[in-house]
Parts: sequence; C-alpha cells; structure tokens
Amino acid sequence: MISEQINEILNEQINKEFYSGYLYLSMSAHLKELGLNGFSSWMRKQAKEEVEHGLKIFDYIIDSDSFVTLKQIKMPEFEFNGILSIFKVVYEHEKCITSSIMKVAQKAEEECDRTTLNFVDWFISEQVEEEEAVKNIIKRLELFGEAKEALYLMDKELGERS
Ligand code: FEO
Repeated sequence: MISEQINEILNEQINKEFYSGYLYLSMSAHLKELGLNGFSSWMRKQAKEEVEHGLKIFDYIIDSDSFVTLKQIKMPEFEFNGILSIFKVVYEHEKCITSSIMKVAQKAEEECDRTTLNFVDWFISEQVEEEEAVKNIIKRLELFGEAKEALYLMDKELGERS
C-alpha cells in the first residue's frame, strides 16, 4: 500500500494527464477545422496517449490497494495565434507535466517508496521523448515558417504518426 500523500499526489497526476488529453483534443478539433488533418490527427493521438497515462496511474493506485479519487477536469484553454503557437503551448504544458512527475518521484524518494519510484521511472523517460518530439516540430515550424508547401509536407508527415 502506498502512503496517503503519495496516493493524493498520484490522484492529482491522473487529473493532470486527463486534462492534457482534454487540452490536446481541443487543439486537435481546432486544427481539423483549419483543414490540417495531419496535425489534427497527431494531436488526437497525443490526447489518447495522455488518457492512457492517466489510466496507467489509475491502475497503479488500485493495484497498490489504495483509492482513486477522480477530480473535476477544468476546461481546456489556449489562445490560437497560429500553428507554431499551439505547439509552443504544448511544449510549455509538457514541461509542467515533467516537473509534476518529478515531484512525485521526489516524494517517493523521501518516503523510500521504491515501488512508486520504479513506477514513475517510465513516466520520466516518456516525458523526455514527448518534449523532444514537440521541440522538433517547433524547430521545423520556426525554420520553415508557415509557408504553404512546408505546412503541406509536415501535415502529411504528422498524419502518419502511428
Ligand atoms: Fe502524460 Fe504528456 O504527459
């Protein structure tokens, strides 16, 4: 069984992961409205991954004989100032999620909770991959701007995300 504090912080993390899914899904809808089906599909897959992350924590809490408390998910908010701005919001958001995961790891370390430490290790590696993927998209958008040809090719490529 995990401690009450770890239980609480993990319940909060479920909420953050589901919120991420909500945020990315709303971005996906917006990109779709713009006709950027590939970008939209990439974002939708990202949203799905976030929900899976939340469920992974959900299962861990239950398997640890502890209690899942699902809290209210706030409304996703972002200002649309172009495609690059969307990905910058995603990048900043992911950095917040990374720091939140680090706090879980720090708490587990303080409590010598090896099981939770082992569990969050996967999330730490996942965050490195996610930040890297988004940073790459940003770099390319910055390099090519929002020129139609470049956007067309990127849209096609991002739509192929498995
Ligand atoms: Fe599950 Fe992108 O954090």
